[in-house]
This record gives sequence, C-alpha cells and structure tokens, in this order.
Amino acid sequence: MTVATVADFSWFEVACVDSTNLFLREKVRAGDVSQAAVWAREQNAGRGRLGRTWLSPEGGLYLSLSVPIHPSHNPHLYTMAVAVSVAEYLAEEYQVNVGLKWPNDIVAVVKTTDGPEEERKMGGILAELIQDAPHGSHVVVGLGLNINTPISLVDPQNNLAPISLCEWYGRSVDLASLTQQLVQQIGRVWNRRNQADWPEEIHAQAKRWIRTLGQRVRITLQDTVLEGQAVDLSPTLGLYLKDDLGNTTEVHSGDCIHLRLGKLKVES
Ligand code: BTN
Repeated sequence: MTVATVADFSWFEVACVDSTNLFLREKVRAGDVSQAAVWAREQNAGRGRLGRTWLSPEGGLYLSLSVPIHPSHNPHLYTMAVAVSVAEYLAEEYQVNVGLKWPNDIVAVVKTTDGPEEERKMGGILAELIQDAPHGSHVVVGLGLNINTPISLVDPQNNLAPISLCEWYGRSVDLASLTQQLVQQIGRVWNRRNQADWPEEIHAQAKRWIRTLGQRVRITLQDTVLEGQAVDLSPTLGLYLKDDLGNTTEVHSGDCIHLRLGKLKVES
C-alpha cells in the first residue's frame, strides 16, 4: 500500500481490496484520516447502489474519496460535486457525449446504427454518510468507471448496457494519469466548499449535466413505483416528479429509468 498526499487528500493505492468504500470508511471511523482517497486496481467485493454488486475487474477505475461535511451543507452536494466533476472531465479530455442520469449515474450517449441515441452506463457513484467519526461527520464518495474494462466482465446495471471509456475513445487510456487528473479536479471543486455560494454553484452545474430533467421517468422506490415527467431538480438535489394527474412529488432516492416518451423544457 502506498500512502502520500495528492491534491490535499491523504492518498492510498492498493492492488486489490474488497471495496474502496469499506477501506476508507474504516479509516475515517477510526479517526486515521479526514480528507482522503483510495485507489484500487481491482475490487473483489465492489458495492453498487441499492445493495447491488459492482463487478470490478482490472482495467476499471475504483476510487473512493472522503471529506468532512460542513454543518450547513446537504451531504448530497459533495456527491453531486464529484458527479459533475467526472462529467466535465470526460467531456473535456475525451470528448465523451456524457451526462448524468439522476441521481448520479455517469452515462455516455451513443448513436446506434439504426438511428436513435442510446444511453450507456460508463460509471456510477456510491455515497455513504459517516456520522460517528472522531473528526465529525464525513461523506465517503465511491466512484466506479469503466475505463479499459473488458465490457463482457461488467453487469448491465439498471437496464442500461455498459460502455467503457476505451470503447468510446477507440484506444486504451492511461488509467494512472486519468486517476490523478480526476482527483485533482475533484479536489479543486471540494476545496471551494467553504465559499458561501458553493451550494448554488453545484446545484446549477448539476442541472446542466443531469439528462433526466425534462424526461419521462419511472422511479422504483422500496415499496412503490412512480412514473411521470422529471420537471426540475429540487434545492436539496431531489427530483420533482409530475405525475399524469398533474401532482408533483419530490423524490430523494430510488432507481430511475428514462422512458424517453417526450421531453419538457426545463428552466435553467
Ligand atoms: C452504482 O451502483 O452505480 C454505484 C457504483 C459505485 C462503485 C464504486 S467502485 C469504488 C467504490 N467502491 C465500491 O465498493 N463501490 C464504489
């Protein structure tokens, strides 16, 4: 294991770990670290959202980052800040036609041979709140990205076929330098967190990248399924969903599918 500092993060590099989120959670809970990051080349018990498994063969990016939560902040802000940083990075560096599927799937939009555009999942984020850490509340944000990942070794997630960056880009990518650059970018965004307008800045960027807004969606919650138009992003980064009777509900989590049956214009 390597320990150093990268972009204000205490930095750990491991060849293989059960889950980078579990690794970092333990370190934060023990009070060993606060703002920290761990990068693994492989995970043998990678975890996805909603209790799913995240298959993690060599070639993918498996990265978790922790940060102390400012008392007046909604913890989702830190997760959304990572999601928008990833989207910006992939668009700028690799010209990926990228977007976010609410709450924070990283999707690439590809043209299929018979015409219509299709979303494919390039990555996902699993955030975990730690309230009982010696250095106060923290969030651990785990990022999994298909980079040089053999796609046959990855599960389709939530009805979305996977795609890797290398498949999009047409050649393999230097994973170590991509990881360093992404961590620097996330560090720059998180380091602005004490500025008064940071929450509004992240909210505005989220609205720019979330493709779900304006779409007809189906959201599966623990005990119910909701369907309607995703009309806007709430101030707390939930989704305002308008059903066919015209009633609007705010949804905070769940499994979201884009039904692509019509788009509304979303106010910016
Ligand atoms: C999702 O379900 O879309 C979220 C997947 C998150 C996977 C990443 S890989 C790094 C970190 N460690 C884990 O065990 N999970 C997250």
